Amino acid sequence: MIQFMRPLRRLRIHLPRTLRLRRYKLILVLIFVLFFFYRDQFMKHMEDNDRQADLPGWEREKPLKISYYLDQKKDTALIEPQGFCKSKTFLIIAVCSSLDHFAQRQIIRETWGNTKEFNYEAFEKLHYHLKGKYLPIMPSRVRLYAEYLSGFGKSLTAKVQILFIVGRARTESQRECEKLSLEANQYNDILQENFADSYNNLTLKTVMALKYISQRCSSTSAFILKCDDDSFINVPNLLHFLLGGTIPLYTDTVDYHFQNTYKVMSPWNRFNASGVVMYGHKFCNMEVDVDVKSPWYVPQYMFEGFKYPVYLSGTGYLLSIDVVQRLYEEALTTSLVHLEDVFVTGICAEKAGIQRHHHPLFNYVHGKPLCIFKGTISLHPMPGNTMSEAWAFVSNYNIKCPPPDKHFIKKQVTKKAHC
Ligand SMILES: *[C@@H]1O[C@H](CO)[C@@H](O)[C@H](O)[C@H]1NC(C)=O
Ligand SMILES: *[C@@H]1O[C@H](CO)[C@@H](O)[C@H](O)[C@H]1NC(C)=O
Repeated sequence: MIQFMRPLRRLRIHLPRTLRLRRYKLILVLIFVLFFFYRDQFMKHMEDNDRQADLPGWEREKPLKISYYLDQKKDTALIEPQGFCKSKTFLIIAVCSSLDHFAQRQIIRETWGNTKEFNYEAFEKLHYHLKGKYLPIMPSRVRLYAEYLSGFGKSLTAKVQILFIVGRARTESQRECEKLSLEANQYNDILQENFADSYNNLTLKTVMALKYISQRCSSTSAFILKCDDDSFINVPNLLHFLLGGTIPLYTDTVDYHFQNTYKVMSPWNRFNASGVVMYGHKFCNMEVDVDVKSPWYVPQYMFEGFKYPVYLSGTGYLLSIDVVQRLYEEALTTSLVHLEDVFVTGICAEKAGIQRHHHPLFNYVHGKPLCIFKGTISLHPMPGNTMSEAWAFVSNYNIKCPPPDKHFIKKQVTKKAHC
């Protein structure tokens, strides 16, 4: 009897409590709803307060004019490759590197950057088991770029040149200087410009590269791919894309695609432009990072707004040579933002009125399966051993990556058309 009463009594005390709890919940929900409606104002208020801190290296008194750091009229290169762009070059791969990244550059030279071993003719071998499941290159484009190409059919070769861009040591280090000049002599692929090499100077690095390339190569090259020294570039896939072909679809690359891009047999997904080209992984509506500790933090005195214009990920974007000149000129009159991709492909391109295009196979992240490397164009980030592993996999033509099976249906591609 007593045992039976106890739970009942407890129950009676509990009832009003749960009611009270419900009221609290209601208030909580109300606060949440209010926050939801006013969150934009709320966030803006937070940002107003937060973006006052100085950015190390770009303190508020430092001039933000590019021309303060870059002499337009002079050749400022401390080291440059001999004969660069003297002959016709279809594609220049401009790799932003750090002065002391000797090992990273060497890995690129030994892996995907070894263009002599891995030029267009590798494409068919790479995807040989899927012949007929993708669109081949277009004869009209091969004719258009004939001066940059040699050979025919399977032995078609495009002239590709890699250029590593570095700055100057912040503290005079004799050893590093000597090491760099030895490296430059040996490989003839280093551009060293006269500015302090640091992460927060990546914008200067890229603009220096734009200057150099537009002055040397505007009548001798067709395309530029800008990437970092921890990016992986599948050069044969890139060349195939540039010449109007499509890259075969693999089970492991389906997730990279959008509902309008996975149809690799559709002529709509062919690349067919010769000028005003900006392709890469497009970011839209990106908000300015307010976290002072983040490498992407941008103070208000450097960028006023809350959102960046549409821009392409700096880990790999493609430009036609005419665009290089226009972006360089625009940069000279644009106030600097230290995030290279936001500045060049966002702010400068927007000012110049150049449209930026998204391509699903230019990506800034990669998953585990190595087949992803066979079926995409650019990926990131790649620490040294990952780079070698991915390269060994891609260059082993005996490995067949599976395409989606016959039960593959459109619904499996969940991503809608990009912004
Ligand atoms: C960038 O380079 C310029 C020119 O060498 C130098 O004055 C400046 O301090 C550097 N900034 C950073 C953040 O390293
Ligand atoms: C590619 O562009 C050229 C001219 O710009 C045009 O004549 C041709 O029809 C286009 N081809 C395709 C497949 O869209």
